[in-house]
Amino acid sequence: MKRYGLNNVVELTRPRPRPDELPGGRRARRIVAVGGGKGGIGKSLVSANLGIALARAGHRVTLVDVDLGGANLHTCLGITQPQGTLSDVVTKGTRIDLLAAPTGIENLSLVSGAMDALDAANPRAQARGRLVEQLQTLDADYVVLDLGAGTSLHTIDFFLLADHGVLVLLPEPTSVENAYRFLKAALFRRLQQTAQAVGVAHLAEAALGSQGSAMRTPAEVVKAVAESNADAAAHLERSLCDFRVKLVVNQVRSPADQSVGRAVVAAWKKFFGLDMDYLGAIAYDDSAWQTVRKRRPLLVDAAGSAASSNVTSVAEALVALDRPRSAVR
Ligand SMILES: Nc1ncnc2c1ncn2[C@@H]1O[C@H](COP(=O)(O)OP(=O)(O)OP(=O)(O)O)[C@@H](O)[C@H]1O
Ligand SMILES: [Mg+2]
Repeated sequence: MKRYGLNNVVELTRPRPRPDELPGGRRARRIVAVGGGKGGIGKSLVSANLGIALARAGHRVTLVDVDLGGANLHTCLGITQPQGTLSDVVTKGTRIDLLAAPTGIENLSLVSGAMDALDAANPRAQARGRLVEQLQTLDADYVVLDLGAGTSLHTIDFFLLADHGVLVLLPEPTSVENAYRFLKAALFRRLQQTAQAVGVAHLAEAALGSQGSAMRTPAEVVKAVAESNADAAAHLERSLCDFRVKLVVNQVRSPADQSVGRAVVAAWKKFFGLDMDYLGAIAYDDSAWQTVRKRRPLLVDAAGSAASSNVTSVAEALVALDRPRSAVR
């Protein structure tokens, strides 16, 4: 059995072909991971409805609930008793594509999250590796991962695996704080993974220093590595630049809330030197929580609501990022 080793790490850090580069005009699969560090901020609501919006736009979409400790994406879609779940991949070695069940929405299937085995909430490295490999085999235009809260290793790894890491936050200091913590954890894990893949883990560790990542910016780590190994430093730099987070601000209620997205993008650039794509804001909308209570997706049950149209715009902004450069006017 393959282990979650360096090959996977190199694979994780390798840029995937753009959609126009596949033979036969086929679109490449894009993995979208929806995370944010904090609990209860709308990650599942965004995942489910982003999936629906993408499916309605004609893309083949598979939603996967990788909230290993608190799976509930199926409920957002009105599915009460999922047949198979991700824990079958971990415990029985079931192929993930066999678990993708129809949702009643054209072009949209769902792999439900693990709900039984306690082990599944904290899988060991080998089980994580199997999940990561399996996710990459799914045949869809978009695979949308709904992440759990927190900064556990598997959550960060799913975020890093994605072509699009979508960060959801609320316009509240606690949510912004958790989002930064989540992104920093992801960024430094990516740095360590790349350093390991190019054989300079020791240099990166030394640069991070005994005080840990709180004391260094990624640019400082790259600079320190460059003093001993310029090639490896160039790799690290490229890997950092590829870490281009997509931001969604949820539950926006006021003009001041509207400005939070741009402010977070600017702060990320200022403190980390990295770009972030702002996909847009989603209004606080009563129909959002009302449809959750009815176990009906927002985009289906409240199609005319402000939040629905916001999620649709977010999906359009995401798809626009994948458009071949020649098609961008
Ligand atoms: N735009 C919105 N307007 C109003 N209420 C919302 C909105 N987005 C989310 N909510 C409410 O927040 C609740 C939590 O959303 P959700 O379950 O998607 O969060 P989560 O981040 O996935 O939580 P967890 O970390 O527990 O997985 C929803 O059930 C809904 O009631
Ligand atoms: Mg959730």
